[in-house]
Amino acid sequence: MTDRADQPTYFEAMGGEPAFRKLVAEFYAGVATDPVLRPMYPEEDLGPAAERLTLFLMQYWGGPNTYSAQRGHPRLRIRHAPYEVGPVQRDAWLHHMRQAVDSLELTPDLRGTLWDYLERAAFFMVNTPDPAEEAAKRPNLA
Ligand code: HEM
Repeated sequence: MTDRADQPTYFEAMGGEPAFRKLVAEFYAGVATDPVLRPMYPEEDLGPAAERLTLFLMQYWGGPNTYSAQRGHPRLRIRHAPYEVGPVQRDAWLHHMRQAVDSLELTPDLRGTLWDYLERAAFFMVNTPDPAEEAAKRPNLA
């Protein structure tokens, strides 16, 4: 992440707060209609969850530290522990996030940087194994 005084941060280069607000709004518009993801969100109103994700992403890319001021250290894997995040949930999350990233007008470089991060972060958040993969690891006793 660049935060030298003579260089813009990724946060600024990507378009600052309006760009991150648009990214997350597009993402949650997808989540709202998703049969896998929508039931995972504990609150009826997705607004507060969208706000948390927006603040987190802005902070991660070099914007204001409001997320940590409000929520403390991100500890995202621990915060996702109550939810079953398997390959299906991860791929649904990435599907909506990809559409959201594509709705921003980013240069190919910035788009690639943002997408690489989101993809790696989503794989990292998986906490529930794929039943088919687990079955494949078991010895065949038949
Ligand atoms: C891989 C699939 C993922 C699923 C199914 C998922 C699902 C969820 C759910 C159900 C919540 C609780 C909603 C709430 O905030 O009340 C949540 C919170 C959150 N997620 Fe995810 N998530 C995923 C990946 C990610 C990734 C990759 C990131 C970051 C790049 C992320 C960032 C966050 C943040 C910042 C919160 C709010 C944490 C807090 O302050 O409480 N999530 N997620």
